[in-house]
Amino acid sequence: MEVKSMLTYTYVSEGTFALMEKPKPVLQHERDAIVKVTLASICSSDLHIKHGSVPRAVPGITVGHEMVGIVEEVGSAVTNVKPGDRVTVNVETFCGECFFCKKGFVNNCTDQNGGWALGCRIDGGQAEYVRVPFADQGLNKIPDGVTDRQALLVGDVLATGFWAARISEITPEDTVLILGAGPTGICTLLCVMLHSPKRIIVCEKDASRLQFIRRHYPQVLTVQPEDCAAFVRAHSDHGGADVVLEVAGADSTFRLAWECARPNAIVTVVALYDKAQTLPLPEMYGKNLTFKTGGVDGCDCEETLRLIAEGKIDTEPLITHTYPLRRIAEGYELFEKKRDGVIKVAVEC
Ligand SMILES: NC(=O)c1ccc[n+]([C@@H]2O[C@H](COP(=O)([O-])OP(=O)(O)OC[C@H]3O[C@@H](n4cnc5c(N)ncnc54)[C@H](O)[C@@H]3O)[C@@H](O)[C@H]2O)c1
Ligand SMILES: [Zn+2]
Ligand SMILES: [Zn+2]
Repeated sequence: MEVKSMLTYTYVSEGTFALMEKPKPVLQHERDAIVKVTLASICSSDLHIKHGSVPRAVPGITVGHEMVGIVEEVGSAVTNVKPGDRVTVNVETFCGECFFCKKGFVNNCTDQNGGWALGCRIDGGQAEYVRVPFADQGLNKIPDGVTDRQALLVGDVLATGFWAARISEITPEDTVLILGAGPTGICTLLCVMLHSPKRIIVCEKDASRLQFIRRHYPQVLTVQPEDCAAFVRAHSDHGGADVVLEVAGADSTFRLAWECARPNAIVTVVALYDKAQTLPLPEMYGKNLTFKTGGVDGCDCEETLRLIAEGKIDTEPLITHTYPLRRIAEGYELFEKKRDGVIKVAVEC
């Protein structure tokens, strides 16, 4: 029987998200798909919308940009997926055809909905159904043998970690420092491990997150921010980290990132800051650093799904809590307050 209305979690106004009934989405374009969401998750960017720090976010939209589901219906021009396919949904909307898409810079897709649109500028996936534009680009089939929970983070935080590790040019001789062990930092760690550097150091200020790293990844060295610079000097071969990935986004961590880097290192800034950061070039003079920054180019989901199927990436331990959509507000509360050792919250839609 056709479902005409559905439950959504909606950005009402600054500070307020609410459960609301809305009409079930319909195909609007021949390249769209409608996906029945099975599992969604909550991201720190959802909290940024809630607190009004994402000016592009449109009040009234359904939030949520990290989800998996089952294709319900496809437009006439969609060829890669068909009704019944289990899929991951990409956080980014991209056409696949413009100058930037062809170069793999899909975050800068020039389509009017290019970049982060779902759950920000158009209705997202903390809902029973979601309409996905450019479905051939935005959906990836989940391999048999990979569960929805194993695939849940593919479209957003894992895509970010994979992209960050890819652009950081890691070699087997490197000591890699990761600042921040939130969900994105841990996904970055998992993807850095795929490049098999000589040594990985994770710096995190939260004791329970440090404990999580020690328990799940005992081969990784851990340190707190106040000891980080000295620790990295003592545990690297050339006076600092060869590669630094800044995934904390705190007031002090941009500075910490470049201070812990050796001369000629690559410093990849994944974090998004609330405030402008200073780049004190006189202090850095002679250090010859390369900075890389940006929004994730999330176009490697097929590869990450394959790596999950092969057992080379496992993000399931990050999903520490699960709620039904009707109780999503409790999940938000827990996630926002970082209570009970939460890393990621899954929402059953
Ligand atoms: N570039 C992108 O496309 C992209 C995509 C996803 C997330 N992000 C950004 O990545 C960052 C991390 O995201 P998240 O979801 O993991 O958020 P999060 O807030 O859960 O993680 C940040 C972590 O950094 C830790 N931290 C805070 N101060 C620290 C310090 N001084 N030293 C070490 N660690 C410290 C926190 O305890 C926390 O565990 C955010 O800034 C987010 O906006 C960027
Ligand atoms: Zn996100
Ligand atoms: Zn494009």
